Amino acid sequence: MKIFSGTANKPLAESVALALGLNLSPLEIYTFPDKEKRVRILDSVLGVDTVVIQPTATPGNEYYLELFLMIDALKRSGAKSITAVIPYFGYQRQDHIFRDGEGVSLEMVITLLQALKVDKVISFDFHAERIPELFNIPVTPLSALSLFAEQIKQEKLDTADAVLVSPDMGGIRRIKILAELLNNMDYVVLEKDRDLATGEVTTASLDGNIKSKRQAILVDDMISSGGTLIAATNLLLKKNIDKVYVFATHAVFAQGAPEVLQKSALARVFVTDTIRVRTSRQFPKLTILSIAKQLANEIKQSCQ
Ligand code: R5P
Repeated sequence: MKIFSGTANKPLAESVALALGLNLSPLEIYTFPDKEKRVRILDSVLGVDTVVIQPTATPGNEYYLELFLMIDALKRSGAKSITAVIPYFGYQRQDHIFRDGEGVSLEMVITLLQALKVDKVISFDFHAERIPELFNIPVTPLSALSLFAEQIKQEKLDTADAVLVSPDMGGIRRIKILAELLNNMDYVVLEKDRDLATGEVTTASLDGNIKSKRQAILVDDMISSGGTLIAATNLLLKKNIDKVYVFATHAVFAQGAPEVLQKSALARVFVTDTIRVRTSRQFPKLTILSIAKQLANEIKQSCQ
């Protein structure tokens, strides 16, 4: 088996390769003056099972195209199989038509991957449970929830005085799984409204009872603008919660999200390294947990 990485998250790909006792295989990604790219595989892959690691967060358009170019180059070089590891799967939120006239970006990306004859996809914490079913090829949906449960135990957060909170109805399944991993911890689900044109979170309201808990652990699949978490935190603080922690798998961190999160009333923010957060965008309240070992175990079991 040989592992290749695009430019989106080389540190993660290196950790995965290390955990597998391998080095990343060499490839060249050349950018022409007009910003088009050319990929060249610099290793022999004829008859070899290959894995290509590339999350597709900002700039998602560019990282997707780079991924497609890598897959095409591996295919033309005779790879026996190609597993696309897309730890953060960009464009998944447009998974249906919200308003007349829109397309379904998720289905378009799936069509492209399948047209390129990818054999298998591995990803983390899809936005919706049904997403793997939309593919005609095998998809392994991994989750960071067990990593979060371990961290919550390690941090010795007082789970008896805390409630797990999903910031929207879409996160119900996620919150139930985490609650079970933490000895049936109490949980509540918030209702969220979003302006479909701007994406701005307009309101959050509580559907459930936080009893007399003083701490809240917000759990989400991703943080983009931070708007969802800020709206949820403001609501929880009004309900006598005095400390709010966040556990979210994907640090999409659009625009000024790091500053917004650092300045917010949140106590701490835990994310994973599915997406690379450059040092310049890290902030004191942030802790990054690594999914590398979990990913390496999956690759070991299923890709050779
Ligand atoms: C939405 O349903 C997702 O689960 C996240 O809550 C959302 O994408 C986060 O986006 P933002 O940080 O911009 O509110």
